[in-house]
Amino acid sequence: MRSVIDVPDLSLEEIDRLMDTAEDIIAHPAVYSERCRGKKLATLFFEPSTRTRLSFEAAMYELGGNVLSVTGAGTSSAAKGESVADTAKTVSCYADIIAMRHPKEGAALVAANNASVPVINAGDGGHCHPTQTLADLLTIRREKGRMGNLTVGVCGDLKFGRTVHSLIAAMSRYENLRFVLISPEELKVPSYVKNECLKQKNIPYTQTTDLESVIGDLDILYMTRVQRERFFNEEDYLRLKDSYILTPEKLQKARPDLCVMHPLPRVNEISVAVDDDPRACYFKQVLNGKYMRMALILMLLKEAGRL
Ligand code: NCD
Repeated sequence: MRSVIDVPDLSLEEIDRLMDTAEDIIAHPAVYSERCRGKKLATLFFEPSTRTRLSFEAAMYELGGNVLSVTGAGTSSAAKGESVADTAKTVSCYADIIAMRHPKEGAALVAANNASVPVINAGDGGHCHPTQTLADLLTIRREKGRMGNLTVGVCGDLKFGRTVHSLIAAMSRYENLRFVLISPEELKVPSYVKNECLKQKNIPYTQTTDLESVIGDLDILYMTRVQRERFFNEEDYLRLKDSYILTPEKLQKARPDLCVMHPLPRVNEISVAVDDDPRACYFKQVLNGKYMRMALILMLLKEAGRL
């Protein structure tokens, strides 16, 4: 059974096709409004979420399908000690496809190995978040008109930020990319991401702690929140949480066609005064995420023989 747990589960060609489908949905929504009639998506969210869960659910409704939802470990049998494997087997009896978010790295893979319907990873701990990356990729294609020849700055909590890990994995497959990794010393990109995605493919990257010194070089600036829930102690979080705050003053040094992105939720990393800048793309990402999830649900249900 085909599931999507991490970015490499999708080929570049498939990602292109998903983006094309999303564009077609944007242009002709009525054509898609009954495609999933009678089908059910289960959203199992054992960690907080606004955008990801609601966008999966909105996506299924806009395809004419239905949604079953578990929110918070405390309201499901997980609270009684049920394993992820048993939950996945159970939910497979009710739903045609599952989107799952879980605080433990690898939980979505365990679910996929035990489910008899496709599982989509909606974030597993500090590991990865492939559907946020699909939203990010469509945003980049729409805003920049290309996926290669870009200098991509990623800023903030690059250690625990799962959206960053998936974005680097996805972008590193395009031509002529350069990454600028901007983070405090303690929150650098994990070595496995650097080794598997950047070093092995000889992709040029630099690491710095200083956003202002590099902002003028960037085509894309991907800001992230310091991931409080993954810290071992609150003092470290408090010391690091406001390491980077993007303001209109800092943006004066940036290119006029910079694309400022953020997976959201934002805490302090981007001042609200930046929202009116035409370079701010983070609310466009939210909308693009819904269309990419529609495209992904369609693809996986078709492959599973359920459409
Ligand atoms: C992200 C996540 O959950 O990893 N949010 C999202 O899905 N858009 C980013 C975050 O929580 O900082």
